[in-house]
Amino acid sequence: MPKNCKCAKPLGIKVRCWWLLLILFFLMGLAIFIFYSLDQQASWPMNPWRIRSLSNQSYIDVTTSVDSYFVEYPHPYQFLMDEPNRCQEESPFLVLIIPVEPHNQEARNIIRNTWGKETMVLGHVVSHYFLLGLSTEGYGTKAFQEELLLESQRHHDILQSNFVDSYKNLTIKTMVMFEWLSTHCSNTSYAMKIDSDIFLNVQKLVDLLLKAPRQHYMTGHVVRDALVLRNHDSKWFMPVSVFPDSRYPPYVLGLGYVFSLDLPRKILGASSHIRAVYIEDVYVGLCMKHEGIEVTDPPDGGLFQAGMPFYRNGCYWTSVITTILKNSKQLVDIWGLYETQTQSGC
Ligand SMILES: *[C@@H]1O[C@H](CO)[C@@H](O)[C@H](O)[C@H]1NC(C)=O
Ligand SMILES: *[C@@H]1O[C@H](CO)[C@@H](O)[C@H](O)[C@H]1NC(C)=O
Ligand SMILES: *[C@@H]1O[C@H](CO)[C@@H](O)[C@H](O)[C@H]1NC(C)=O
Repeated sequence: MPKNCKCAKPLGIKVRCWWLLLILFFLMGLAIFIFYSLDQQASWPMNPWRIRSLSNQSYIDVTTSVDSYFVEYPHPYQFLMDEPNRCQEESPFLVLIIPVEPHNQEARNIIRNTWGKETMVLGHVVSHYFLLGLSTEGYGTKAFQEELLLESQRHHDILQSNFVDSYKNLTIKTMVMFEWLSTHCSNTSYAMKIDSDIFLNVQKLVDLLLKAPRQHYMTGHVVRDALVLRNHDSKWFMPVSVFPDSRYPPYVLGLGYVFSLDLPRKILGASSHIRAVYIEDVYVGLCMKHEGIEVTDPPDGGLFQAGMPFYRNGCYWTSVITTILKNSKQLVDIWGLYETQTQSGC
C-alpha cells in the first residue's frame, strides 16, 4: 500500500482508501479460493512448494491419462510358479500371503527364519506363501527365473503370476491372491495378506482368530473417513475423474489384513462391477462396500500398529499383532527381542 495513504485527512481520500482495502481483500480472497478449489488437500498456511506444484497441475492433467489410475483387472493371468495342491493337502487354519518383489530374496529368507517358521501355533496349522509378479528390468531374465525356480523347489512357498510386478500393479497382485485362495484353500478358515517389512506375532493373531467370526470377517488397521488425496505430490494421488467422492469407504490398511475365507469369492465377484483402481487396500474396501460387508475393528486398537511407537514397554512385541518396520532387515533383531520377551513370561 502507498506510504502517503494515511486514511486520515479529507473525507474523499478516506473513502478511496477504504475502497482500496476492500479491493485488496477481495483479491486475496479470490486467490485463496482459487488455490483451494485447485487442491482440496491444500492446507493453511500455503507453502511455496505446494503452490509450485499446483501451478503445474493443468499440465499434468492434460498429459496423464485417467487410465493410468486403473489396473488391468479382471484379466486371465497365469501362474508360472505354483503350489497347486499344498494348501488342500495341509488344510491350514491360517494362510499368510506375502506380496514381495521377485528380486527380494533377502526379505523372503528373513521371513522364513522369523515369523514364517511358525507353522504350528496353539495347535493350528499356519502356512505362508510369497506372491510375485513378473520381474521388470534385468531380473526378468532367464537366468533369474531359473534361480527363482530353484528357490521355489527348495521351499515350496512361491507363487508367481505373469503380470508385471510394479508398485502401480499391487491391486492386480491382491486380486490374484484372492483368486488363488478361493480355488486352492477350500479347507482353510482365514488368510492374511501381509507385507514383507512387517513384524508379525503369529501366536497373538491365531489367538484373535480363534475368537473371531468365521464369515464376513476382515480386520487389521481399520481406516475410516480417509480423505481422497488430490495433491499431485502424493504417492496416493487420485483424480476426481477417477474417484469423485472426497472420502474413501472404510478399508483395512494394506500392511496386513486378515479375512475369513468366504470373502475372496465375494470380493472377486464385486471386482467385475467396480473398475480396479491402483490403490489396492482402498480397492478391497470398495469391493467390500459393494458386497455390503463391513470391516471389523480389532478388539484392541493397538494390536495392528501402523508404525513403531517411540516408547515401547518391555512386553511390547508380545502384545501387538503387527508393526511396520523400517525394512525387513530390522525384523531379524526385532524377532530376537520378541523371542526374549516370550521366554521372559510376558
Ligand atoms: C510438471 O509436470 C510434468 C509432468 O508430470 C513434469 O515432468 C515436470 O517436471 C513438472 N514441472 C515442475 C516444475 O514440477
Ligand atoms: C479339513 O481340515 C481339517 C483340519 O483343519 C481336517 O480334519 C479335515 O479332514 C479337512 N477336510 C478335508 C476335506 O480336507
Ligand atoms: C501392470 O501389469 C500389466 C499386465 O502385466 C502390464 O501390461 C502393465 O504394463 C503393468 N503396469 C505397470 C505400471 O507396471
